[in-house]
Amino acid sequence: MPGTCVIGLHWGDEAKGKIVDLLTPRHDFVVRYQGGANAGHTVVVGKEVYKLSLLPSGVLTEGVTSVIAGGVVINPAKAIEELDELASRGVDGLEKNLKISDRAHVIFPWHVAEDRALDSNTSDGENIGTTQRGIGPCYRDKVARSHAIRVGDLYRDDLRQTIQHVVAAKRPVIAAMGGADAAESLDPEAIYNEYTAYAERLRPHVADTTEMLLSAAEAGKMILLEGAQGALLDVDHGTFPFVTSSNSSGVGVCNGTGLPAKYVNFTIGVVKAYTTRVGGGPFPTEQDNADGQRLRDQGNEYGTVTRRPRRCGWLDAVATRYTARLGGVDAVAVMLLDVLSGFEELKICTAYEIDGERTNVFPSHVDDLRRVKPVYESLPGWREDVTGVRALEDLPANARGYLDRIAELVGRPVCLVSVGPGRDQTILTGAAEQLAV
Ligand code: GDP
Ligand code: IMO
Ligand code: MG
Repeated sequence: MPGTCVIGLHWGDEAKGKIVDLLTPRHDFVVRYQGGANAGHTVVVGKEVYKLSLLPSGVLTEGVTSVIAGGVVINPAKAIEELDELASRGVDGLEKNLKISDRAHVIFPWHVAEDRALDSNTSDGENIGTTQRGIGPCYRDKVARSHAIRVGDLYRDDLRQTIQHVVAAKRPVIAAMGGADAAESLDPEAIYNEYTAYAERLRPHVADTTEMLLSAAEAGKMILLEGAQGALLDVDHGTFPFVTSSNSSGVGVCNGTGLPAKYVNFTIGVVKAYTTRVGGGPFPTEQDNADGQRLRDQGNEYGTVTRRPRRCGWLDAVATRYTARLGGVDAVAVMLLDVLSGFEELKICTAYEIDGERTNVFPSHVDDLRRVKPVYESLPGWREDVTGVRALEDLPANARGYLDRIAELVGRPVCLVSVGPGRDQTILTGAAEQLAV
């Protein structure tokens, strides 16, 4: 079973970092394959809390090779900052154990400037509310095949000229987007000096990770693929245009790593026991009321990267069934179940009503998604604190009933239940028992 994939089935922040950290010891490689430092994956080890944006969550386990594959857009300053922070906290071996693809595209200051200027410009006027990390503009330049610089290009003799050329092209564009000051402050020579220093620092990590992962898969090595964001933020299959700019649904594994699909043998879809979203865009089960505030308070729902309050709502089984199918999900991990303790009544959206018609189909257009009325089923809640529970049979009967209903509605078994942020606050069932230590 060489390839295990962990993907979020909602709009991100489903607690993928915790799962990846848990599964890492049974794997040889942990791979980030899309997104960039827009991600914020939290791993809690005892009293230590690690927040990883760019480095794979496997970096905390010794002896495992962590890979930032070619589908990631990499901000080198951010990578170095995370490496330094981990080293200062006693995480060893990264000099040898972190590999960065020479094919990954590099985020430059002009991407960040464009991201800031662009984010007010969706066609209907609602902001995407990006993380402003330059993700979208960097992917755009990659697809446009112009003004794009890859990690491997940082070591070429013509880097200085390339940067001069790109800055000259970007300045008027950014100024026209309302970023005159940002455009003015782009200094090609300073950027060149900054990025050559980053390149030197990262040199030991840079590798042809496509070749490395193909060889590893062919040799039967265990590879853990760490999705960032969530399937509903997928640029092709999510709530476009309120999405990120990569394939975060699981279809991104192949293009992001170069690995053929046949090597992905098991996919875990990660969901919260409810739903959250950061940024703009439709969210049918959002509770902009006391229930939503209670979920936010009990779940500490504030962005890992931006600290923005997350929008909170009930579990949406229509959306989750869609993304579980899209991701070829074998089993579901239900996270933050403890947050629901104390709610007398819980709701799950089992269908949408649109123009008086009931449907189980997740609409392809956000205008339709905005118009849907969620059809809710009520389930009885539980009062007990479940953070100390370690076996399914010790959960309150209503919590078990809630999990069973999720499995039924999403059409996938539950393989893992999380009752707190700690590594040990986890109930493993079924296939996950073989994948985790
Ligand atoms: P990711 O981006 O998918 O890795 O998720 P984030 O790290 O952004 O957000 C998940 C948050 O939930 C983090 O603060 C985790 O420490 C926390 N967390 C993970 N599992 C649980 C859980 O079962 N219960 C609670 N209360 N918190 C959890
Ligand atoms: P993890 O990996 C939650 C959201 C942003 C915005 C949209 C586009 O921690 O789950 P971008 O900066 O990517 O162009 O922003 O996507 N977003 C996330 N939301 N978790 C994430 O990552 C996210 N990464 C991006 O809030 O709505
Ligand atoms: Mg996150």
